[in-house]
Amino acid sequence: MRLSRYTRNLVDEGNGKFNLILLCWGEGQGSSIHDHTDSHCFMKMLQGELKETLFEWPNNKTQDVGDMVQKSQKILKENQCAYINDSVGLHRVENDSHTEGSVSLHLYSPPFDTCQTFDERTGHKNTVKMTFWSKFGERTQSETTEAQKKTSALGMIVLSNRVNMKLQISQIHT
Ligand SMILES: [Fe+2]
Repeated sequence: MRLSRYTRNLVDEGNGKFNLILLCWGEGQGSSIHDHTDSHCFMKMLQGELKETLFEWPNNKTQDVGDMVQKSQKILKENQCAYINDSVGLHRVENDSHTEGSVSLHLYSPPFDTCQTFDERTGHKNTVKMTFWSKFGERTQSETTEAQKKTSALGMIVLSNRVNMKLQISQIHT
């Protein structure tokens, strides 16, 4: 079980049309298995690598069904892009490196503020609210875990690059 938490940094709300989020992953940090709330999810690796593991949806909605079925696994390298939506399946994203952090840029359209996470052993699901470690380059009031303090160096790079990010985003909008 992974105890650590990567940070989620909201960069742009796209006038309500999308959320652009920078995720900073410390060594060994990873997500739960999760869905994407009927949205499109595009991601691009900006630094380091991430492992993406794709799973089938559990086929029994009311009872535990045992181990979830893994469909595929791939390593996303720097500058590579990936896409997922709920019809593709569920996924888990992890930084398997013991020495390098990684940073990925995610665009979710339409934006959503809850998603479902799944227990790999049982298929049991939970609804979770998405939280942000920072919004628009400003630190939010969300709790900081010890693991997040370790990745705050990455977060600080994100914050210090915010002017640069805003410039790039304005180019996306035009
Ligand atoms: Fe995802």
